[in-house]
Amino acid sequence: IFIDLRDRSGIVQVVFNPEINKECHRIASDMRSEFVLTVTGSVARRPAGTENTKLPTGNIEVIATATRILNPAATPPFYINQEIEIEENLRLKYRYLDLRRPRMRENMVFRHRLVKYMRDLLDERGFLEIETPMLIKSTPEGARDYLVPSRVQPGKFYALPQSPQQLKQLLMVAGMEKYFQIARCFRDEDLRADRQPEFTQLDLEMSFIEEEDLLQLMEELLAGLVQNLKPEMKVQRPFPRLAYQQVMASYGCDKPDLRFGLEMADVSHIAAKTDFGVFKNALAAGGAVKGISVPGGGAYTKHQLDELRDFTLASGARGLVTISLVGSASDLGSLTMEMVKSVVAKYMTLEQVQETARHLGARPGDLLLLVAGKLEEVNPALGALRAEVGRRLGLLVKDRLAFAFIVDFPLLAKDENTGKWTSMHHPFTAPQEATVRFLDDAPGKVMGRHYDIVCNGFEIGGGSIRIHTAEMQRKLFRLLGYADGEIQERFGHLLEAFGYGAPPHGGIALGIDRLAMLLLGEESIREVIAFPKTQSAVDLMLDAPSTVDAMQLGDLCLKIVEEGEESK
Ligand code: AMO
Repeated sequence: IFIDLRDRSGIVQVVFNPEINKECHRIASDMRSEFVLTVTGSVARRPAGTENTKLPTGNIEVIATATRILNPAATPPFYINQEIEIEENLRLKYRYLDLRRPRMRENMVFRHRLVKYMRDLLDERGFLEIETPMLIKSTPEGARDYLVPSRVQPGKFYALPQSPQQLKQLLMVAGMEKYFQIARCFRDEDLRADRQPEFTQLDLEMSFIEEEDLLQLMEELLAGLVQNLKPEMKVQRPFPRLAYQQVMASYGCDKPDLRFGLEMADVSHIAAKTDFGVFKNALAAGGAVKGISVPGGGAYTKHQLDELRDFTLASGARGLVTISLVGSASDLGSLTMEMVKSVVAKYMTLEQVQETARHLGARPGDLLLLVAGKLEEVNPALGALRAEVGRRLGLLVKDRLAFAFIVDFPLLAKDENTGKWTSMHHPFTAPQEATVRFLDDAPGKVMGRHYDIVCNGFEIGGGSIRIHTAEMQRKLFRLLGYADGEIQERFGHLLEAFGYGAPPHGGIALGIDRLAMLLLGEESIREVIAFPKTQSAVDLMLDAPSTVDAMQLGDLCLKIVEEGEESK
C-alpha cells in the first residue's frame, strides 16, 4: 500500500509492505484520504524507474515499520491534493480544508515572510511597533464605521478603526518619532476583488520628515521586498513620480496600470473642426473628446470592434467611435481616405484623421478609439477600455511590478450633489505651502501633501505629511463643513494634543493584502487572507454575521426594529 503523507512542508510517499510489517499493512488498509497518522520507518531511495521528478521528495520513500491512525476523516467536499477549480463559496465554507491545498498554504507562508520582512526592516531603521486600540471613536477615512455597542455605557458606541490614523498622529505628539503597526482596519463599504470589510495595513508614521524621506523609505522597502522574496519579478527603479493631473489626463484614473503605455490624448481641438454631431454636441456641453490608439488594431474584425464598443458602453460611456487604419501605408502622410474605415469617416477630412492619429501616436495599421462626453464619463470609460485593450494585447505580464508614486493631489474636491468641499483623502493631510493662500477664496486650487503608491492598476498605499497645528486643523474642519461644536466633540482630543508641542509629522499605510495579491499573481485579496468574507461581507465558515438573543440585546439596551415598524 502506498500513501502520500502530507504535512505543512509537503508530501512524502510511505510504503506499507506486508513482508516488512504485517500489522502496519493491515492498519494502512483502513486509511483513507485526510486521515491523521503517525508513521515510523526508514527513508529509502525509490527503486530505479519509480522516481517522481515533479516532487521534491520524488526520489525517496519511507518504508513504514510502525503506524497509528490518530484520527479518521470524513470524505472532504473537494480534492485537496489537486489544483482544480472549486466553487469559491464551497472553499470559503470549508476554508480549513481549502488552506490545506498547496497553493493556499504557500500563500500563507508567503504572507508571513512578507510581514516579517517589513518588521525586520523597520526595526533596523529604528521604528517601534506599537499596538493601538480596536475600540475607538470614529476616525474618518471615507467609509462607514463598524460600531460596537457599549454595555456599561448604554446607548453609546465604539467605532472599530477604519485606520489607526489619529492614534498614530497622537503617538507622534507622544514623542515616539517612528511608529509602525501591522494594523487591522475595518470599513463598511461595497466590496470588490481588492476590498474586504477588514483588511491589514502596514501603518507607519514619522516625525520631522518631508515627503522625500517617506517616498525613499517606501521605495527601498518595496524594491527590497521583491528582491528578497520574489527575485524573479521585475521592478523598474526609480519608481516614477507622477502628478495626479497628469495621470488623470493620460490614463483616466489615479491608479494606472503602468506595465504598458496606450496613453490617452485629448483630441477635442481636432474633433471641434469635424462635422460629426456627437463630437460637436459633447464639446458644446463643455465635454471633451479623448482617445487611444491600438497597435495593429486596424485589422480588428467587426465582431472585435463590437466587443470593444459594448465594453465601453458598460463602463459608462455613451458611445465609442472606432477608426480603423487599414492597408499598409508607410507612414501617416501617405494614408488615403480608402485606408480609413469608420462610420465617422464621412464627417472628417483626411487631414483631420491624420492629425488625430498623430496625436494618439498611431501608425498605419492601428485602430483609433475615441470617446466623447463629459470628462467624468470619458476618463473612467476610456481608462477601463485602455486596461481592456492592454489585456487583449497580452500586456498585463504577471512577472512585472510597475510601481509608481502619484503626487500633487488637490487637497479638496467638491461634492457635486451637496456642493460641499470634501477631503480627497482624509482631513489630516497638510496643504502644500505654495497653495495655502487659496484656502479662503479658492479651496479647489489648494494642493495636498499627499502621495499614493500604485502598482499594476491597484492603489497599494497612501499617506501624507499631516497638519500639526490646531489652528490649521480647525480651519480645515470648518472648510469641510463641520460646526465648531462638532469639531470639538469629534476631534477635540487631537486639537488639544496639537497644543502641547506636536512635531511636524507624516506617514503612510500600505495595503498588505493587495501587495501580497500582486506579488503572488492572484486575482483577489481573498486568496491571501486566511479567513476572508464573501462579496456580501459574510463569513460562510462561521456563519457571521448572525442574530443574537434577546437577552444579549437587552444587556446592550438595544432593540431590533423591523422595517416599517415605528422606532422608539
Ligand atoms: P487609505 O485609506 O488609502 O489610507 O488606506 C491605505 C491602503 O489600504 C488598502 N485598503 C484596503 N485593502 C483592502 N480592503 C479595503 N477595504 C481597503 N481599503 C484600503 C489600500 C490603501 O492604499 N490612514 C491612511 C493612511 C495614511 O494617511 O497614513 C489610510 O488608511 O491598499
